[in-house]
Amino acid sequence: MSTIPSSAPTPTIERLPVSLPQLAEKKRLGEPIVMVTAYDYPSAVVAEQAGVDVVLVGDSGAMTVLGYPSTVPVTLDEMLMLARAARRGLRTPLLVADLPFGSFEGSNEQAIATAMRFVKEAGADAVKIEAVGVAAERARALVAAGIPVMGHVGLTPQTATALGGYRAQGRTAERAHDVAADALAFQDAGCFSVVFEAIPATVADLLMERMEIPVIGIGAGGATDGQVLVFHDLLGIRDGVGARFVKRYADVQAEMVAGVRAYAEDVRARRYPGPDHTYSIAPEELERFRTLLG
Ligand code: KIV
Repeated sequence: MSTIPSSAPTPTIERLPVSLPQLAEKKRLGEPIVMVTAYDYPSAVVAEQAGVDVVLVGDSGAMTVLGYPSTVPVTLDEMLMLARAARRGLRTPLLVADLPFGSFEGSNEQAIATAMRFVKEAGADAVKIEAVGVAAERARALVAAGIPVMGHVGLTPQTATALGGYRAQGRTAERAHDVAADALAFQDAGCFSVVFEAIPATVADLLMERMEIPVIGIGAGGATDGQVLVFHDLLGIRDGVGARFVKRYADVQAEMVAGVRAYAEDVRARRYPGPDHTYSIAPEELERFRTLLG
């Protein structure tokens, strides 16, 4: 029986920062893990307030907030700036940052130096790397250096050209086998989690039987341990239709255009600013000011 008098304020329950063991526990219990991307302070605050488990500063930010045509051109410094801004808006979710194309492939030393910058300069809890030939070796080196790593298999946008474009992967037995090999290599390398992007749900189902670490899906069906969507896709902060797997939960772009258009109309019609939007000065001060002006 509660002893709190009805007039007492409702106690707020502080959420503790999400940890890697908690994600493993969610997998064990079959509790879905929620991950979303964020690239700046306001999107991070939204993710925090919405109570997601993991925030990814994805290199999709190259396209969604920096306007590049793909994720390939984004630089390490640009990604660090996005990650630092997101960090400032977060207390609870685990913060994962994408290692951008060209920042880790060269050597284990390069990968460690890059990942360390995300941890030390941007406050990232972990980094994500996309599957390329050397990725599992890099992941192993990062884990050995004390940096938690999330792998990314299936459609890996950084190497989309080599994969034949932005299209679903693993749609032949051989290609599905390649995806499986990448996922298991990341798992063996000590990654704490792997993203499956754009692969048939039935392939993901089969693969899940082999995955001991939490798997976050995007376009991989419902059998994975969690889901991730790009912030701008799910909120509709973009033109055009997204990938097949995107579900839109809002149409924020239309709202923003309508808001700015209404503002422009008010300014042009001299409806804004109105009396409520101006500051006042005491009449005697105004009079003194008039005198000062001569
Ligand atoms: O960059 C990104 O947003 C991603 C997710 C799609 C997983 O890698």
